[in-house]
Amino acid sequence: MPAHVGIIMDGNGRWAKKRGLPRSAGHSAGAKVFRRSVEDFRALGVKYLTYYAFSTENWKRPADEVDALMRLLQSYLDDIRKMAQKNTRIFFAGDKSAFSDNIIDRLEEIERVSENNDGLYLCIGLNYGGRAEILRAAKRLSAGDIQNATEDDFERLLYTSPMPSADLIIRTGGEQRLSNFLIWQSAYAELYFTDVLWPDFEKKDIIAALDWFAGRQRRFGGV
Ligand code: IPE
Ligand code: IPE
Ligand code: MG
Repeated sequence: MPAHVGIIMDGNGRWAKKRGLPRSAGHSAGAKVFRRSVEDFRALGVKYLTYYAFSTENWKRPADEVDALMRLLQSYLDDIRKMAQKNTRIFFAGDKSAFSDNIIDRLEEIERVSENNDGLYLCIGLNYGGRAEILRAAKRLSAGDIQNATEDDFERLLYTSPMPSADLIIRTGGEQRLSNFLIWQSAYAELYFTDVLWPDFEKKDIIAALDWFAGRQRRFGGV
């Protein structure tokens, strides 16, 4: 069983297009799947989850799609906060300062109320980019003892800290790339790509990914 699973929730737009719906309808359907999949992973015994919800590059999308995503985020904050009641530690990876004051306050409140939980660790990438994360960590490190810093010291400065490195990355939607997700953390992750579009992603698809992972031989450079 992987400790830390990263999930690239891709394919919402194509799911909507296939149905003649606006892309925002795909994002709404995808948000429901996000909520359900967290519970599926929890039930299957995964302890650390990082979801890619909005990248540093996704601001390039048309304003109406970005607006729809921000409204969707706002409407899901209550649901996300409720997850804290199940001993879930929730935190957000990415530069929050790009969001409205109201959203920032609520994101910080969710992090605060859940910070002592330790059942499931749930990290949600919002305005997240792996390169921005590494640059931020480098800047934070340079305020300390940079010459003697170890990889562990550096990892502690990443948004995903205190979660361990990623063991498994799942990407739905058929593309075989990381798109700036968990660049540092995925150095030795197993990469699982499926053509299933994110809004169609079900518990059986999670089980298929975990089964595939169980059959991998991980060597970490050894034999
Ligand atoms: C992923 O689905 C969700 C976000 C990036 C916010 P997409 O919106 O990228 O869906 P496709 O890839 O266009 O189908
Ligand atoms: C990655 O998907 C970002 C998220 C899932 C949040 P994209 O749809 O933005 O990635 P590209 O553009 O296909 O690489
Ligand atoms: Mg996409």
